[in-house]
Amino acid sequence: MSFTELWESLLPVGRDAATGGYRRFAWTEEDAACRGWFIRAAAERKLRSHPDRNGNLWAWWDQPRTASGPRGSGAGAVVTGSHLDSVPDGGAFDGPLGVVSGFAALDLLRARGFAPARPIAVAAFCEEEGARFGVACLGSRLLAGAIDPRAARALRDGDGVTFAEAMAAAGYDPGRIGPDDGLLGGISAFVELHIEQGRGLEDLGAPVGIAEAIWPHGRWRLDFTGRADHAGTTKLADRSDPVLPFAATVISARQAAANHRALATFGKVTALPGAANAICASVSAWLDARAPTRALLDATVAEILVMAERASHKHRVRLRERQESFTPTVEFDARLRNRLAATLDTSGPDSPAVPVLATGAGHDAGVLAARVPTAMLFVRNPSGVSHSPAEHAEAADCEAGVTALADVLADLAGTGAAPPRRTQGGGGW
Ligand code: HGY
Ligand code: MN
Ligand code: MN
Repeated sequence: MSFTELWESLLPVGRDAATGGYRRFAWTEEDAACRGWFIRAAAERKLRSHPDRNGNLWAWWDQPRTASGPRGSGAGAVVTGSHLDSVPDGGAFDGPLGVVSGFAALDLLRARGFAPARPIAVAAFCEEEGARFGVACLGSRLLAGAIDPRAARALRDGDGVTFAEAMAAAGYDPGRIGPDDGLLGGISAFVELHIEQGRGLEDLGAPVGIAEAIWPHGRWRLDFTGRADHAGTTKLADRSDPVLPFAATVISARQAAANHRALATFGKVTALPGAANAICASVSAWLDARAPTRALLDATVAEILVMAERASHKHRVRLRERQESFTPTVEFDARLRNRLAATLDTSGPDSPAVPVLATGAGHDAGVLAARVPTAMLFVRNPSGVSHSPAEHAEAADCEAGVTALADVLADLAGTGAAPPRRTQGGGGW
């Protein structure tokens, strides 16, 4: 099956007919359809597939001598993959391109007659966007032990349904979620392919790039509590309108980001009760903030929260702020990154080396980097647009990504690769 055929088999799943965007949220019908697609893609390739205790999906190309052993344990498995879930009305490529390319790269390796010396797996991580339960990369954080399973079970969606309830309703046991050191211990490298969420490769004229680092970034929830009242009879001086400090905070966030070379966004807001002729009782708003360094991020967020406090006080509104998720700076494993560059760098005197780029976008690879040697491949996004139905990558660039991923997997899982060892503080390559 070609990349295009496999890509098109997933394309309709979870797409909203009105917007053309995707609504693939954890433990929903659309998520179940994506899981069914993954299991079929694995079965068509005779890959052993299973969910792990956290609902992440794995499809294994085992090797005879390790097929009987526990899943990839001790065998120095090489894993690729990404996520299938989306932001509301997200694009088709963010996540799925990495999963489809993983399967397509295995097809290409088999077509080349490649026989891996160690297991290779394709993975799809659960709730990477945090669109339903608020914490980004929830499935990979649980796997890596980066979030308390009790806190994860208690996360609620907009309707008050907990992660545990939703997971159980989908037929999984939320009592088992948590770190899986046995599974991680058998992985010697994780390489995630992802559409670039920016124009770096476009500006450089390159179809494929390698990730250098992920900016530190986080998500904060701000709850402004005022006093509901009549829009037509309440004097301005008598109001405790939560929309006012919220609005001041949005403007301040923009200025704080500009002051500190950062990015700050309020993309999700709920104003209750939401009547045109009533002053709101409360406003809940989610701040997404990111910056090139931790110091710049901390300065940006601190400035925004001070402004939010001041504005809330001025308008006699109560403010509660909580950090909902946070990812520190991720520097990908330098030796693995250099190994990918050497594999892909077919540059002779007349062709450029493969670009190495930092990104402000979070990824499961960023979470797993704390536990296994991790790298990322980016595929060119001509407009740079992402988290939008307009997100797009050209077919030729997607194919280039598959070829690059296949070359990387062949190098890492081939007989030539020295078995990796994890050394303190660094990668194993
Ligand atoms: O938010 C992010 O950067 C990623 O798309 N989850
Ligand atoms: Mn995303
Ligand atoms: Mn993504």
